[in-house]
Amino acid sequence: MNILITGGAGFIGSHVVRHFVNKYSNYHIYNLDALTYAGNLENLTDIVNAPNYTFIKGDIKDIPFVNVLFEKYRFDAVIHLAAESHVDRSITNPNAFIETNVLGTSNLLNAFIKLWKDNFEGKQFYHISTDEVYGSLGKTGLFTEETSYDPQSPYAASKAASDHMVRSFGNTFGMPYKISNCSNNYGPNQFPEKLIPLFIHNIQNGIELPVYGDGQYTRDWLYVTDHALAIDKIFHKGKNAETYNIGGLNEWTNIDLIHLLCKQLDEKLGKPEGTSEKLIRFVKDRAGHDKRYAIDASKIQAELNWGPQVTFEEGLSKTVDWYLQNSSWLKNVTSGAYQEYYKKMYGE
Ligand code: NAD
Ligand code: DAU
Repeated sequence: MNILITGGAGFIGSHVVRHFVNKYSNYHIYNLDALTYAGNLENLTDIVNAPNYTFIKGDIKDIPFVNVLFEKYRFDAVIHLAAESHVDRSITNPNAFIETNVLGTSNLLNAFIKLWKDNFEGKQFYHISTDEVYGSLGKTGLFTEETSYDPQSPYAASKAASDHMVRSFGNTFGMPYKISNCSNNYGPNQFPEKLIPLFIHNIQNGIELPVYGDGQYTRDWLYVTDHALAIDKIFHKGKNAETYNIGGLNEWTNIDLIHLLCKQLDEKLGKPEGTSEKLIRFVKDRAGHDKRYAIDASKIQAELNWGPQVTFEEGLSKTVDWYLQNSSWLKNVTSGAYQEYYKKMYGE
């Protein structure tokens, strides 16, 4: 089976690519990634020479390129992760999110059905989405697969639109598809614009920790390899045309999480307890900030026997260790040296 994984040089995508390449030698994994600021081939150095792995640099916004690629490799399945993924960037530049997340997804869907519309037997288009499509929760309640869409940020709206496009292709063209909506991921290789890696980087460098608003916003955190395992289960055993919610069963307010992170870093860096907390600063809130996300993961637990394997304390500790041991990775992505390198390697 030829499987296209898009966005495989990014944070979650690189863990998914590694998992599939190592576990399924009978599949050929094609990793299509534009290597935007968030894409980094250093995430995949351990599998770069695997015989069942091919990296393709390319942009899902480029229609002729996408069509030629699908005709050339005749992908049996697509696992689609490529996206603009950072909420703050969607507030400063919403159109970039429409172009990649909506139009880019539509380009992949068009190329996929062009190839298989006469016989979809054994084919599938699996779209990786987010819990942010459901909007924001109050103090109680959980997002289920039946929760109405109510996206609040341009990022969430663009992901909601891409989910709708995928379902519409299932309904209109009979295209086999699956969608999963996952909560906040954390772990190694996450670009340091997101809360956890940004704060690890800042603590290491003695930079202030900008906590948005009152810090009482709540997220449901899942270790990234547990997300990769869920994707494997849904890909192989999930039902056609179904949605699966994936979550960590692990809610933290931002400020409690930041206290735990500060404590772990003080211990690991050999600093007196309380040192890193002194860097905390409450700053202007994110515009339209969603108050709380929390997932009801009972469907995937019951149907596919999936549940998080990594506890938060353990996962956070492993994450901090990874960033401390991979300071050159962090330095390269924050200094821009990595992007300079890839411009030289691949051109603009
Ligand atoms: P990321 O920003 O780390 O990686 C995105 C990848 O997509 C990068 O490698 C980037 O180069 C690539 N990409 C971007 N635009 C592209 C384009 N036009 N053509 C080809 N490649 C392109 O993102 P992530 O956090 O790993 O998220 C991956 C997917 O999972 C996204 O679809 C996101 O919406 C979804 N998701 C993320 C989380 C999370 O907590 N990070 C949670 C739930 C769902
Ligand atoms: O819920 C899934 C989503 O989780 C994914 O779809 C997104 O791709 C991913 O980026 C993430 O979105 P969030 O906005 O929840 O993640 P972020 O790490 O940006 O922020 C987490 C929380 O921390 C949020 O309440 C905002 C807050 N925050 C974030 C940053 C970057 C701060 O207080 N200060 C910061 O500097």
